[in-house]
Amino acid sequence: MESILLPLSYLIGSVTFIMGLKMLSHPDSARKGNLVAAFGMTIAIFATIFLYKNEAGASLGNYPWIFCGLLIGTFVGTIAAKKVQMTAMPEMVSLFNGMGGACAMLISLIEYHHDPNPETGKLVVIILGMIIGTVSFAGSMVAWGKLNGRINDHTIPGAQIINFLLFGGLLFLAIMLIGGFSTSSAFFYGMLALAALYGILFVMPIGGADMPVVISLLNSFTGCAAAFGGFLYNNPVMLTGGILVGSAGTILTILMCNAMNRSLKNVLIGSFGGNKTIAGGGVSKEGGNYKEISLSDTAVLMAYAQKVMIIPGYGLAVAQAQHACHELEKVLNEKGVEVSYGIHPVAGRMPGHMNVLLAEADVPYEKLKEMEDANDEMSTTNVVMIIGANDVVNPAAKEDPASPIYGMPILEVEKADHVIVNKRSMKPGYAGIENDLFYKPKTSMLFGDAKKVLQDLVSELKNV
Ligand code: TAP
Repeated sequence: MESILLPLSYLIGSVTFIMGLKMLSHPDSARKGNLVAAFGMTIAIFATIFLYKNEAGASLGNYPWIFCGLLIGTFVGTIAAKKVQMTAMPEMVSLFNGMGGACAMLISLIEYHHDPNPETGKLVVIILGMIIGTVSFAGSMVAWGKLNGRINDHTIPGAQIINFLLFGGLLFLAIMLIGGFSTSSAFFYGMLALAALYGILFVMPIGGADMPVVISLLNSFTGCAAAFGGFLYNNPVMLTGGILVGSAGTILTILMCNAMNRSLKNVLIGSFGGNKTIAGGGVSKEGGNYKEISLSDTAVLMAYAQKVMIIPGYGLAVAQAQHACHELEKVLNEKGVEVSYGIHPVAGRMPGHMNVLLAEADVPYEKLKEMEDANDEMSTTNVVMIIGANDVVNPAAKEDPASPIYGMPILEVEKADHVIVNKRSMKPGYAGIENDLFYKPKTSMLFGDAKKVLQDLVSELKNV
């Protein structure tokens, strides 16, 4: 009986992980999906701790160490997850992902330490787990530092050549060990050092603004490294989890690149965005001026509209204006105005950023329109209210072949009758480029912090 309990708990862990991942694909079930996967993983972890026996029939032991680690990890993880600001989420994902990479690296180090001359298959798995885990750990730490501003963007002269040489060095050392040309552990630890350096230099030159894509890529690396751990321990739940994380991270990376119409190569070696600012705000490239709108005029325009579409962007997240935004929607609904939200796939700074944010404010999911559906409705919309979004509504993506965002699908807000843009200044967004939408005849600028503006607009609307 005892002998089937462990494989059975691994089966439960694997199945619940797959179910959880599936449920994560819809906001309604995402929270539950997370819990389902966590429940399965808890079963798998405790089954390993209490039911696993090695070939000699001995249990794991070391219980004080294991439970101290579990308690500290649970405590730190819970506090960090509860305290994190929505806008700092990519940072936290990066840090946690780095820890996953570090675990995979430690597994390989320990297994190599136990047996420095294993049979070839096992050595390959140990080396791959160590290299990928270390690259992911070192790269994620740099990404974390860049996102929280501790590390600045650096252009390293000849970075590509250095990385190529490092990669060559790694390959050479791996061949020496796996091919049996040497059994020196110096080669193994040399690989560890090269992999750490490679991870740092691989991420260092990439623009801070491109970090979400890099984190997703590193996440897929961690998944692969964990899967190698699964091979090593013959542990199906680690294998399934690792493969799923690896493939999900890869798919997400591709989707993010597609939604920005950029290749992964361009993300990894092209410099994009950053801290560029544009001089001379107020005048477009063609010399046109922008016009401002007052709060009371905005309130009147919205109150007498039939259809309003709200386009949220990164600025809404920074301002934590999601609740005020939901208030605006409710007040407009009370006045008989139909309100929906146009959601661009890369609005904000992480996948599903706007969906998560609006769900937090209890905005009904049916009101969120994906980009294609939102664009279909644009020509019948009276007022589009853009809140802290910039690149995702920039017409240069369609009109200017020289623009770095040319080809990126956008929300075609100009098809609506009126466009109101709320942001604090004429500064550019993530891509660091000017937005001609702000100077178009249909567009009016409503300057100010999104939360304050929305709160004032709600009060104003109540008096209309
Ligand atoms: P952005 O183009 O970054 O524009 C955000 C705008 O919000 C800024 O122009 C800023 O203007 C305004 N803003 C900042 N704080 C504000 C506040 N407190 N109140 C009001 N406005 C504020 O954002 P977006 O349109 O959401 O586009 C997202 C960009 O991120 C895209 O270029 C996308 O490719 C990129 N990206 C996204 C992802 C994912 S997965 N979402 C991943 C990688 C890259 P002011 O400073 O003038 O206020």
